Formats: sequence, structure tokens, C-alpha cells
Amino acid sequence: MATNITFHPGNVTHAERCSFLRAQTGATLWLTGLSASGKSTIATALEQYLLHRGLHAYRLDGDNIRFGLNKDLGFSQKDREENIRRIGEVSLLFADSASLCVTSFISPYAADRELARKLHTSHKPALPFIEIFVDASLAECERRDPKGLYAKVRKGEIKSFTGISEDAPYERPQKPEIHIDADKTSVEDAVKVIAHYLIEKGIIKA
Ligand code: ADX
Repeated sequence: MATNITFHPGNVTHAERCSFLRAQTGATLWLTGLSASGKSTIATALEQYLLHRGLHAYRLDGDNIRFGLNKDLGFSQKDREENIRRIGEVSLLFADSASLCVTSFISPYAADRELARKLHTSHKPALPFIEIFVDASLAECERRDPKGLYAKVRKGEIKSFTGISEDAPYERPQKPEIHIDADKTSVEDAVKVIAHYLIEKGIIKA
């Protein structure tokens, strides 16, 4: 732990930051769900939609972040906790900067997602944390298997795989702000549902 460090606040308040951008409030849009549930596809389309509306948005993707910031982490429970802890902190910074931060991580543990939420809600001022459950059944994820990972798991080539291995459970969100039935909902419709929510809550303007 570092000692002798002093937090240095800036001269611009969060409200001012958001007002400079005029049409948005900083927020984190936290997508959670099984591997191959469609998180990254929805996140990519959502980011594109927001940018095309002239809003400032940035996506943090589970696979991508593991090539850089989190390349020292694997898939043990401890490493997944640290993965999500860091992303909770990074998304908080983006949201504080008045950006719309779209995260797509399995984030399988309810307690870790709760920690990320608390970071946002206990921040001064509180920042919106919108949990979006991309709810695809395991059978559908396995049928899609875009990266061929489920096939590898079944052959015993990958251990601790979320939703299959006993040591890697997925704890379903109990009260997500948005629930997407990903077996039946198109990517386009998922983006519409999320956009509608953001407008309704005044996070972006219609
Ligand atoms: S999390 O559990 O720590 O939130 P994260 O979203 O960063 O996971 O990474 C998940 C991605 O890593 C999956 O979409 C998949 O492509 C890949 N992956 C590799 N090994 C595993 C594993 N054992 N369990 C889950 N995903 C894995």
C-alpha cells in the first residue's frame, strides 16, 4: 500500500463536465452474461449507436482488456475478482469524465458486480451504474460457440469455464436495470431497449 499520497481534486465539477458535452451524463453500462451470450456484439453496436448520435462513448471488452491492462490475470476466482475490481475502477473514471462507458465482461460473481456498483453509487456525486443482463441460455451459447471455446471445454482442453465447470459458476443478476432475453432478442432490438432506457432516465437526450 502506498503511503504519503494526497488526493488532488480538479477545478471542474462533474456537473460542469457533463454540461460541456450538453447531451449526456456520464454513466457505466455494465453488460454481464455467459461467454458467447452476445455481450460484446451488443456492446459494439451500442457504442457505435451512441457515437453516431454524437455522444461520447467508449467500450471496455473482457477479451480485449486481457491483452493489456489485465494481461497478468487468468480465470481463477481471485483473478476474476481482480479483473472486475479494476474494471469497476476504470469504468468509474470514464463515467466521471462524463463519458458513457460500455463494459462487457462475464463478471460472474454477484459480489464483484455489487462492488463495481457501490463504487459508482458512493462516488460524489453518485454516477449511474446500469447493470444489463445479457441472458442467453447455456444451450444457446454452446450452439453459437463463435470462438470454439465450448467445444474445447467439452474435450477437456479448458478448465474452470464459466457456466460449465463446477469451480466457475455464473451468478445470475437478481435485479438488473435491464434484462435482455438474448436467446430471442436481435442485437438491433437490444440496442433499442438500452437506448430507450437511457433516454427515459435522462442520461442521454432524445
Ligand atoms: S471474467 O469472468 O473475468 O469476467 P472476462 O469477461 O474478462 O471474464 O473474459 C471472458 C472471456 O475470456 C470469454 O468470453 C472467453 O473468450 C475467454 N475465456 C478463456 N478462458 C475462459 C474461462 N475459463 N472461462 C470463461 N471465459 C474464458
